[in-house]
Amino acid sequence: MAGPRLASPLAAGSITRVKTSAGLDSDTDSESDTSSRLVVAVDGPSGAGKSSASRGAAVALGLRYLDTGAMYRALTWWLLERGVDPGDTGAVAGLAAEPVIEVSTDPQAPWTTVDGTDVSAAIRTREVTSAVSAVAAVPRVRAHLIAMQRDIIARASGIVAEGRDIGTVVAPDAPVKVFLTADGAARASRRAAEASWSTRADQDRRDRLDAAQSEKAADAVVIDSTGLGLDEVVDTIVRLARERAGALFPRQKSR
Ligand code: DC
Repeated sequence: MAGPRLASPLAAGSITRVKTSAGLDSDTDSESDTSSRLVVAVDGPSGAGKSSASRGAAVALGLRYLDTGAMYRALTWWLLERGVDPGDTGAVAGLAAEPVIEVSTDPQAPWTTVDGTDVSAAIRTREVTSAVSAVAAVPRVRAHLIAMQRDIIARASGIVAEGRDIGTVVAPDAPVKVFLTADGAARASRRAAEASWSTRADQDRRDRLDAAQSEKAADAVVIDSTGLGLDEVVDTIVRLARERAGALFPRQKSR
């Protein structure tokens, strides 16, 4: 990844596992003083390149990484495995806290498990992708997963968290907020490169369904990635984070 590394309270890759459900592992690097933690919120629509950019920025900055979309996907996978109709709001709400969902916060080795099963690939299938918006719209699902996400963020000494509502709901006090977007055609072609079955129509449908959860924070910096390469997006986020970190934590050395 381009650019020198920021001196960080946590070397990237030093933690590979954080439980997000019952029996939370404590993070030995976590600090109770949250004012000294760098939280970078990266929101934006599907296909804007959030995951690659967030992981790249986390590696470059030496921070942890949280993919909140993976958590919604994990719950959706579990519901589908049990034959639950994702449109049955009552059933989905009642089961939201049942599975034990775990995510890695290592930006170089992200993975997701449900009740101990690695679902990192299974949560990216067309079936899960088609169903996840309905599940993510259920208020009890959001309340449960947002509480888990806040807990993970609070335990990390520094983190890049990506999703739809990080800067507005999950971590509204994050010192760095990015809203990463791109035009519809660029987003559709990125999605198709990742998943051959993904069409522009799929994307438009998901955009509509996800709209209620996808507000830009008033203080977020908008990055339009349409004509940018991944390194350029990462560099922009890293620069913003360093500027903010310099202002927030002037005594922390950077190299
Ligand atoms: O970013 P993604 O495609 O992996 O997200 C999967 C789904 O989860 C998508 O429908 C939006 C939803 N989501 C959400 O509602 N809130 C988040 N913080 C992250 C994802």
